Amino acid sequence: MNLTVIDHPLTRHYLTVLRNKDTSPQAFRAAARGLTYTLVLEATKRLPLRTFEIETPMETTTGYAVDNVVAVPVLRAGLGMLDAVLETIPDVKVGFAGVARDEETAQPQEYYAKLPDLSNAFVLICEPMLATGGSLSWAVDKVKGSGATAITCLCVVTAPEGVKRMYEDHPDVQIIAAAFDRELNDDFYIVPGLGDMGDRLFGTL
Ligand code: URA
Repeated sequence: MNLTVIDHPLTRHYLTVLRNKDTSPQAFRAAARGLTYTLVLEATKRLPLRTFEIETPMETTTGYAVDNVVAVPVLRAGLGMLDAVLETIPDVKVGFAGVARDEETAQPQEYYAKLPDLSNAFVLICEPMLATGGSLSWAVDKVKGSGATAITCLCVVTAPEGVKRMYEDHPDVQIIAAAFDRELNDDFYIVPGLGDMGDRLFGTL
């Protein structure tokens, strides 16, 4: 299984705020940020470190640095996770992946992509709602097309259908999430879920 569900009190607290239908967009954005910090800590546990010598005021010792992390929020809901990533990861670069679902074919349609060279990067894709898996699988294809080989996805809520699709399409990719929910409904929303993440973040309900 390439899915890790975080079991941390802060993750559960913030997820509850996100799930609550009465949470305002401002409080929703704050909770998305708080929850994402907890996902980032887990996702970056195995980041490679560069070692080098530094001078403390007392003597020489070994220093460590995190290099070459690239975050890729999937537009638009992934933007709700970006601030926490920017505040936590040193010198993180950001690429963007914009995808919409074609209403007739239900297939992902790219409308924007801007990615740096990802050959030596540790890539963190931010896609809060892993529902059918179509958008995330497309985003992983995109980053692999730019050379990425070390890819982790940060999700808020996942559904069995999306996790299965990701395992079939990209078994090499890790998924770190706050929840693994029951199922998708007939409109492809996750239940119990939290509704439309983009609408709730940006107040466009
Ligand atoms: N996207 C969302 O924003 N919510 C869902 O439940 C599924 C996909």
